[in-house]
Amino acid sequence: MDSDNNELNPEQIRRGLATRFIGQKIIYFPSVTSTMDAAKKEAQWGAEAGTVILAGEQTAGRGRLKRTWLSPEGGLAFSVILRPNFSYLPYMIMLASLAVAYGIRSLTGLKPQIKWPNDVLINYKKVCGILIENDIRKKDLKHTVIGIGINVNIQINQLPEIAPIATSISDQLGRQLSRAEVLRSVLVEMDRLYTELPQGEQLFNQWKSNLVTLGQQVQINMGDKIYTGLAEDVTEDGSLMLRQKDGYLVKIIAGEVMFK
Ligand code: BTN
Repeated sequence: MDSDNNELNPEQIRRGLATRFIGQKIIYFPSVTSTMDAAKKEAQWGAEAGTVILAGEQTAGRGRLKRTWLSPEGGLAFSVILRPNFSYLPYMIMLASLAVAYGIRSLTGLKPQIKWPNDVLINYKKVCGILIENDIRKKDLKHTVIGIGINVNIQINQLPEIAPIATSISDQLGRQLSRAEVLRSVLVEMDRLYTELPQGEQLFNQWKSNLVTLGQQVQINMGDKIYTGLAEDVTEDGSLMLRQKDGYLVKIIAGEVMFK
């Protein structure tokens, strides 16, 4: 088992990886600005679908809504290049968040849940963030990059800036675990879920039933707008339906949810 201090070894990760295509090629950078940048370049140079860009360290990791993403030692930071049909694009957030939730669950027995749209939480604290960037030209999807940051072996109380809202797998389990095994487990789930894309509704239903957001009173920050109300439902395009106090139902397509 590796620990925080061991380098991730892409060859060793790939050797034990039971997937059809996801992770069959892993490109490892000991240090990189962001795996999103590296993946974008690789995709433009023609990298095959399923290629994984894995970082030892990110010096400029980024998150959703223009936030930065801290990549402390003991975490996992990687991006997966995919080339799905354009019509499958809305399902990518579902595929990615379910792959992480199922991957952690099957390896550890923990019970991660998804906070709309695609944060993965354990006991209401964020254990994983997901960022999806697409290259779309004239309704043609050239590629999509799914970036995943997982807090694996991190003592979150050492990081006061995120401690109130974040957790790690090791904090939840009370022991460290192999980052290589976490990565393999997530990639295996992603590979399996990818085969379910033609039955998009199935993927949607799984995502919906793993959402911790539904039925909760929430505040949603969307740019400079703030919405509050009951997170009532989600739609198959990945939007959240929010019932406001005035009774109106608002469709939210992106934003940051806070529980009230
Ligand atoms: C978020 O919660 O705002 C999304 C965070 C996504 C972080 C991952 S780490 C790997 C990949 N590279 C990045 O720069 N970001 C994503």
